Amino acid sequence: MSAEGQGTVAYRAVLAGCGSMARGWIKALGEPGLLGKVELVGLVDTDPSAAIRLRDEAGLPELPTGTDLHAMLAATKPDMLFDVVVPAGRRDVVATGLWHGCHVLSEKPMAASLEEARELVRLARDAKRVHAVVQNRRYIAGVRRIRRMIETGALGELTALHADFFIGAHFGGFRDVMQNVLLLDMAIHTFDAARFMSGKDPVAVYCHESNPRGSWYAHGAAANAIFELSDDVAFTYRGSWAAEGANTSWESSWRIVGTRGTLLWDGADRWEAHVVNGQDGFLRPLAELEILPPAYDAQTHGHESVIAEFVRAIETGRAPETAGSDNIKSLAMVFGAIESARTRARQTIQIEEFA
Ligand SMILES: NC(=O)c1ccc[n+]([C@@H]2O[C@H](COP(=O)([O-])OP(=O)(O)OC[C@H]3O[C@@H](n4cnc5c(N)ncnc54)[C@H](O)[C@@H]3O)[C@@H](O)[C@H]2O)c1
Repeated sequence: MSAEGQGTVAYRAVLAGCGSMARGWIKALGEPGLLGKVELVGLVDTDPSAAIRLRDEAGLPELPTGTDLHAMLAATKPDMLFDVVVPAGRRDVVATGLWHGCHVLSEKPMAASLEEARELVRLARDAKRVHAVVQNRRYIAGVRRIRRMIETGALGELTALHADFFIGAHFGGFRDVMQNVLLLDMAIHTFDAARFMSGKDPVAVYCHESNPRGSWYAHGAAANAIFELSDDVAFTYRGSWAAEGANTSWESSWRIVGTRGTLLWDGADRWEAHVVNGQDGFLRPLAELEILPPAYDAQTHGHESVIAEFVRAIETGRAPETAGSDNIKSLAMVFGAIESARTRARQTIQIEEFA
């Protein structure tokens, strides 16, 4: 993403993992909030044809491509590494980037296990480099609006969040053979959004995970989870990637309950919020609540917003919102749910050790 003619290029980046999501990253680098801030100096993929294809599609014929990340980082000495590889490759790719002195921005999930995630947080701390995770689905207008509504206290005190996610998605590729595919590859977004909207920490979870009859995945295409969050807030999640028909939005469909009222969002453009407006009646009278816009438009552009936040963190020295040291709490929700499903028991989620 050469920024020639766009003013000074601030940072040089190598991108590893040139599959479908990488196309979204290349597009984001050309969006107004990022234009001219990052120059791609190399593409790496274990499949050489994938890197060449992406280079050609991006219209950057001079961009070096390779299969050896070490060699590419040694040759180009970039400021940052963009990690868009499959989850199984994440630990080694991030560790290699940090070893070469790069700031690293990774796709979700931040690691394939909590042990790996802890190790990466430690490595980034020791290397004094920014390590952050793309939780693009918290950088959208709807999630920011709910966060703002909860923060203003318009619904009273928050008591519960409920999310439904049902999409009969036929991807092909790594997801078809992945273990715990829904929880690890998709629910991480919804769990992270719930944590962000509520401002609460996960405490414990009970989860039932299954691969429903007729599923075209190898493992874990459906899950039902009940989380206990701090301050007695409940979060429930019902999800399936093997449910045909009546798809929800990719953002899930949400019900947010406070002591004074309820907010509904279908994950797209349908909103409804009411609060109690009177003391009498079996069902109390309700008044419609205005749903506020997001506090900052710049935080509503998905990948563009996450990458911009990462760049800003490097510029200012302030930790990014999705720093690995914080995002590990969302990953802990996923692995808590996986462990609960395995043991068929309530699982506590220890987050102090990540602080
Ligand atoms: N944030 C989102 O909304 C979102 C959406 C889709 C995918 N993703 C995430 O992006 C990542 C990539 O997903 P995808 O859909 O692009 O997958 P993909 O299979 O289309 O592409 C992954 C690419 O990485 C390459 N690769 C694998 N291991 C590698 C390694 N060690 N070093 C270099 N290259 C390697 C593969 O050859 C492939 O070309 C996953 O973690 C996925 O969960 C995020």
